[in-house]
Amino acid sequence: MNNGLRALAKQMAHMHMRDMFSADATRFEQFSLSASDLLLDYSKNLIDQTVRAALVELARERGVVERRSAMFSGELINGTERRAAFHVALRAPVDADMRVDGEPVMGDVHEVLEQLSAFADSIRNGEISGSSGQVFTDVVNIGIGGSDLGPAMVTSALAPYADGPRCHFVSNADGAHLHDVLKSLPPETTLVLVVSKSFTTHETMLNAGSAREWLVDALGEGAIPHHFVALSTNLEAVSSFGIPSERVFGFWDWVGGRYSVWSAVGLSVMLAIGPARFREFLAGAHDMDCHFRDAPLDANMPVLLALIGIWNRNCLGYPSLAVLPYDQRLLRFPAYLQQLDMESNGKSVDMDGQGTGCKTGPIVWGEPGTNGQHAFYQLIHQGTDVIPCDFLLAANPQEKKGEHHAVLVANCFAQSEALMRGKTADEVQTDLEGRGLNKAEIAELLPHKVCPGNRPSNTILYERLSPRVLGSLIALYEHKVFVQGVIWGINSFDQWGVELGKILAGELLPVIRDGEQVDDLDSSTAGLIAMFKDLQD
Ligand code: F6P
Repeated sequence: MNNGLRALAKQMAHMHMRDMFSADATRFEQFSLSASDLLLDYSKNLIDQTVRAALVELARERGVVERRSAMFSGELINGTERRAAFHVALRAPVDADMRVDGEPVMGDVHEVLEQLSAFADSIRNGEISGSSGQVFTDVVNIGIGGSDLGPAMVTSALAPYADGPRCHFVSNADGAHLHDVLKSLPPETTLVLVVSKSFTTHETMLNAGSAREWLVDALGEGAIPHHFVALSTNLEAVSSFGIPSERVFGFWDWVGGRYSVWSAVGLSVMLAIGPARFREFLAGAHDMDCHFRDAPLDANMPVLLALIGIWNRNCLGYPSLAVLPYDQRLLRFPAYLQQLDMESNGKSVDMDGQGTGCKTGPIVWGEPGTNGQHAFYQLIHQGTDVIPCDFLLAANPQEKKGEHHAVLVANCFAQSEALMRGKTADEVQTDLEGRGLNKAEIAELLPHKVCPGNRPSNTILYERLSPRVLGSLIALYEHKVFVQGVIWGINSFDQWGVELGKILAGELLPVIRDGEQVDDLDSSTAGLIAMFKDLQD
């Protein structure tokens, strides 16, 4: 971080947000903005106008404007894989001029979208049925990482809009996952989507193979072409699995796995909510793309959200980010963001292969409120680490049930207020005196009840969790992660770190499964394998 920001962080360390709010009644107006159906309130951060201006200047210095243009121009910004990162094209209108390496892509994008829509409609209205002529009632999405988290999170978030077949998700190599999903499903009316960009991912191929056996056992080999669909860029591997070409929907190498829910990978979402609503989802993301592309940096929601994160991570030294949706349907959103953020920005070298010299991606975690309040919020309020929080909240629930929503909203706002204000020793003292405790009792209890406050949070508020709003929300975080990657100078679009574990698992499999011997194992791994063998039935 530059020296100016370091000096500002030192100055701000003496400030308390509760004083800043008392001194300035316009703080909310100054530090909030609306874009693409979302309101972002970032006023409960330890910043002032000077800090914001310095952060915006940092974004400018680090080339955010130029990198943003490069992304929207389809340049090969994913350097280590020599690819574009062009997910913005997946939600652009058909007449947009979007090119990768000079080649227009919108024709192909919309051709696949039309094919997917026609296929989804035919499944939903029963024109396409299973091998025994019965209408599909259930869909099983087999994929992992970006081929699972996006579709799973979005179908759960948009459950109130679902009027198609029920969607289920299997990702884990643990056979329990597939078993538990398949055990209650009728093979005659189950459609299996094998979702894998590479079509080589071990877990997905394993689950797809077992699902295939399940279908063949029940319906015979002839059922496979009727009951399987593939969503992949590896068309050759798909055809050797036995899925006919008319049941394969492709996408392109410039669609990263964690940015792929907008492509054919989102078929389960389309089957659940229908093609028209899927297009609303795309339109919401496109709105946010236009805002991100066109708004000045100091009035640009993804840029400001990213800069607040940089301030908290690099200037104030906070190591993690809690994502706290006060929206039960966003149950999987923290897990989705974990891949988006941590797989993108969990890097230690810059684009030239040199050490970044600064901290990069934070640890992202979270659970929906109010549940988290009764679990880990204690640490957020009084623990020794400061944990910045993102609160997400809809003004309107999808289901109107008594006072449920009022209670939810009151809790959400109360948490960010409590984190900001805290509770001083004087306030605790007055409280305890009012309750009739004597001096000794007060002295004993007081330190335990003080809350330091001054703990940062953002709140993102939206009218209702519609397909359009969800599209905007996801795109907001995608661009936030991109901007942070640019500031840190890293390639946010590769993920080499996950390869080593995959290779070692491949080497250990024959040892575990077939009892093969290897000599050069460390004593821990060798000891665990020996113990595992002892314990095995
Ligand atoms: O192992 C990480 C990863 O490559 C992710 O980036 C990706 O989303 C996931 O695996 C699944 O990959 P695929 O879609 O090729 O099966």
